Amino acid sequence: VRRIRVDLGARGYDVLVGDGAIASVGDLLPPGTRRVAVVTQEGVPADVELPVDSFRVTVPAGEQAKSLHQVEEVCRRFARGGLTRADAVLGVGGGVVTDLAGFAAAVYHRGTPVVQVPTTLLAQVDAAIGGKTGVNLPEGKNLVGAFWQPRGVCCDTALLSTLPAAEWRSGRGEMVKYVLLGAGPLDGLTLAEQVARCVALKAAVVAADERDADRRMVLNYGHTLGHALEAGGFAEVDAPARSGWAGGRASLRHGEAVAIGLVFAALLARRLGRIDDDRVEEHRVLVRAESLPAALPAGADPAALLDLMQRDKKVSGGLTFVLDGPSGVEVVRDVPRHAVLAALSEMEVDDG
Ligand SMILES: NC(=O)c1ccc[n+]([C@@H]2O[C@H](COP(=O)([O-])OP(=O)(O)OC[C@H]3O[C@@H](n4cnc5c(N)ncnc54)[C@H](O)[C@@H]3O)[C@@H](O)[C@H]2O)c1
Repeated sequence: VRRIRVDLGARGYDVLVGDGAIASVGDLLPPGTRRVAVVTQEGVPADVELPVDSFRVTVPAGEQAKSLHQVEEVCRRFARGGLTRADAVLGVGGGVVTDLAGFAAAVYHRGTPVVQVPTTLLAQVDAAIGGKTGVNLPEGKNLVGAFWQPRGVCCDTALLSTLPAAEWRSGRGEMVKYVLLGAGPLDGLTLAEQVARCVALKAAVVAADERDADRRMVLNYGHTLGHALEAGGFAEVDAPARSGWAGGRASLRHGEAVAIGLVFAALLARRLGRIDDDRVEEHRVLVRAESLPAALPAGADPAALLDLMQRDKKVSGGLTFVLDGPSGVEVVRDVPRHAVLAALSEMEVDDG
């Protein structure tokens, strides 16, 4: 089992990565913890054995579980279970669980320690690391939240064997992003090694910019178009089980939308003279090697997508993108609209 440090001084912590890492989860609890509230979902396969007394809080599946109503439900269960701020919360599940459990921990008793046990690929390489927690409002995703760093994260890659294919692809989309950000080629590595590479990259970026002021924005590589596809109804953010990429409306998982966004970002960067044809091809090859979509879904209208991208919450002022270039991936401001439209029109369209 590998141990990767998220170096945040007094708020720093370890991420354990490996097959069977869950056996060591007790080591991540703060010393003196008496009770643990295990927040999880039906169907999450992790049986956690803890050295201390624990009780289970089961939350519903799907994005709708990330609500203020659920925060209240979960905190009330903590209170009824006698959890004190000297105890701990354990989030066991995908990103929905780790975001909700993390936020509930951040606000319960004005801050209770949380340890995360991500059980989807996406949560292991992304959601559970870095201390961003939160829930949705009807007005938008992740609008209410807090930075609340976990005391530790346990990525047991053996738990991923039961992951449905669509969830697997979603995680792979984020992993392609890490490869393009410099996590190095993942070919030939074991799954645990691959996850560890991605975790190490995320840990370094978070350590450099805990609060998302600048550097951390590179983690949004591929996400500007990805979010626009989600907002445009091409990704089914509300349903937990999906049959996969069908080339139609509401069928993309988050990481699949990101994969399309990565190819688009490469085309846009080339148009701005930042990268060459070979690098664009590298983006396509990596995305296709994971059987991820590289084309726009049928019916996606470039003008409507541009509108949605302009409304992306990361945009302050003109059109802002995260783009590859001579000095690597970085934030690029004031990208002209015509360049965006031209890059969109260069994209292939999935016609089913
Ligand atoms: N905080 C962050 O930095 C951050 C980063 C990225 C994403 N997120 C959030 O993560 C969420 C998406 O997370 P997700 O993709 O993990 O989806 P998810 O949490 O909905 O999990 C997907 C489905 O897989 C099931 N599942 C979980 N583990 C399983 C396993 N081992 N075997 C079989 N089934 C399993 C879940 O019960 C769920 O039905 C979004 O809400 C997103 O906003 C947060």
